[in-house]
Amino acid sequence: MIVLIGFMGAGKTTVGHLLAAELGLPFADTDLVIEQRTGRSVRDIFAADGEPAFRELEHTVTAELLAGPDAVLALGGGAVQHPGTQQALRAHRVVYLEVGYAESMRRVAHDEARPMLRDPGLMAIYQRRLSSYQAVATEQVATGGRPAEAICLDVLARLGGPAERRR
Ligand code: S3P
Repeated sequence: MIVLIGFMGAGKTTVGHLLAAELGLPFADTDLVIEQRTGRSVRDIFAADGEPAFRELEHTVTAELLAGPDAVLALGGGAVQHPGTQQALRAHRVVYLEVGYAESMRRVAHDEARPMLRDPGLMAIYQRRLSSYQAVATEQVATGGRPAEAICLDVLARLGGPAERRR
């Protein structure tokens, strides 16, 4: 399983599609699977049930997909904060697509579908998550100012080498 992690706007879904096509693997995005299964949008789940309910749902779906057939899998930006997900990721190649906070905001700031963008503490959340991303990643790829195709090639090159898990 090849898993893409990183903050909102890192390009997990865009790069994931390219990567899956190159590798001849199916692509799955946990947010999309959650929406398909529940018949509700991520935004609606946050608004009606709250973030903790979304996080549990996210963990359940992520754990299921990680245990399933080989694929390229894009996780939601906050998925790595769940201890169970951190544990489940230890068996997989985990690519951290790194994006700076300002660039992330330039890419997604006006997206109504992302409820976390309304959180006034978002910058602190970004900073807190950096260590989680790094802890579970086996490779890290910078995305700043680069087209998705170049990032995809970079990821492919690293996947050809040994995993570089930090812990
Ligand atoms: C979230 C990121 C979103 C989605 C949800 C929460 C987050 O996914 O899971 O809105 O907490 O950062 P993307 O990273 O694909 O935008």
